[in-house]
Amino acid sequence: MSETDFATRVGQILEAGALNVALGLGYQLGLFEALDGAGALSSDELAAKADLNPRYVHEWLGAVLAGGVVELAPDDPTRFVLPDAHALVLCRRGGAQNLGVYTQELGLLVEGALSGVRAGFRTGQGLGYESYPAFHAFMGELADRKHEQALVGEFLPSVAEGAIEARLRAGGAACDLGCGSGRALLLLAAAFPASEFVGVDLDEGALEAGRDAARAAGLTNVEFLTRDAARLAEAPGELAARFDWVSAFDAIHDQLDPAAALRGARALLKDGGVFSLVDIAAESELAENAERPLGAFLYTVSLLHCLPIGLGPEGKGAGLGMLWGRQRALDLLAEAGFEVEVAEIPNDPFNVHYCCRLSSA
Ligand SMILES: C[S@@+](CC[C@H](N)C(=O)[O-])C[C@H]1O[C@@H](n2cnc3c(N)ncnc32)[C@H](O)[C@@H]1O
Repeated sequence: MSETDFATRVGQILEAGALNVALGLGYQLGLFEALDGAGALSSDELAAKADLNPRYVHEWLGAVLAGGVVELAPDDPTRFVLPDAHALVLCRRGGAQNLGVYTQELGLLVEGALSGVRAGFRTGQGLGYESYPAFHAFMGELADRKHEQALVGEFLPSVAEGAIEARLRAGGAACDLGCGSGRALLLLAAAFPASEFVGVDLDEGALEAGRDAARAAGLTNVEFLTRDAARLAEAPGELAARFDWVSAFDAIHDQLDPAAALRGARALLKDGGVFSLVDIAAESELAENAERPLGAFLYTVSLLHCLPIGLGPEGKGAGLGMLWGRQRALDLLAEAGFEVEVAEIPNDPFNVHYCCRLSSA
């Protein structure tokens, strides 16, 4: 690429990066929902509808108009329209098509962690979850979007050729490691009333949110336990060899000691049980991810969150990073005593399913 072409590219990066921030603000403040289906609104009408300050909304409209997100009304340059095709991609009603939820991510991470990450470049130290105050709420929102559409109807039937779904229907037991606020478990507990579900996480606030949601939904077959996944192998207690299915959605690469957490997953499985590790689809070498769609976005999220969390405040954790990749995952799973089949996930090219059974060796 020539210098001129690269300068053009950097200009595009500046424009897109700035627009990402404006989109994230609009998503959080409900501006896209206020525009959705409303026809042509003036700046003041939009501010009133969203219950926001008119001067700020006016400036925001400047950014999203220049960025091609909203359009001017054909007959009135003082009114703004969000085309329906854009609304589907930016509004909560878009479900699986909603990319708006991701526009908040970099802003949230930068808000809590940028100075710590900058320091980490010199010290090698990482960060604790307290650096990310809005993290669990955001993860809950992402998990809602991911799991609500696909977990019960699409993903579960694909696990071990439907064997786990059949066991849960008949009355089995499943545990979700690093369950966060428990969105996946709540969906499963509602879909399989004859089975019992246990969520394990370190974050008491997230677990309490899960307990509240279970109570509100009247679910009595799900419980949330405060446990360190990395200590389950040595001290599984009442969870030892209890489960037909153990899952870990997006919850191993952030661990300080992922190898111990994988041994923990093993300790929880009944004979013949299955461990589903669902994590980002990537390779372990940087060069092999160079062409990956959204690779720069994912590495930057990892830099701002997954890596520092995985290193921990003392910098002694494994620090796998989000794109730890297939080869590294397969090595760690084999060390933990699993035989693994790598499966694609229906309608989810971003993640991969490591379907693991206890190794017979
Ligand atoms: C990226 S979040 C994923 C949450 C959830 N599984 C989802 O898909 O939305 C990772 C979760 O792992 C939890 N976690 C990290 N280390 C853990 C450990 N050693 N033991 C238990 N949970 C842990 C975090 O508190 C967090 O809730």
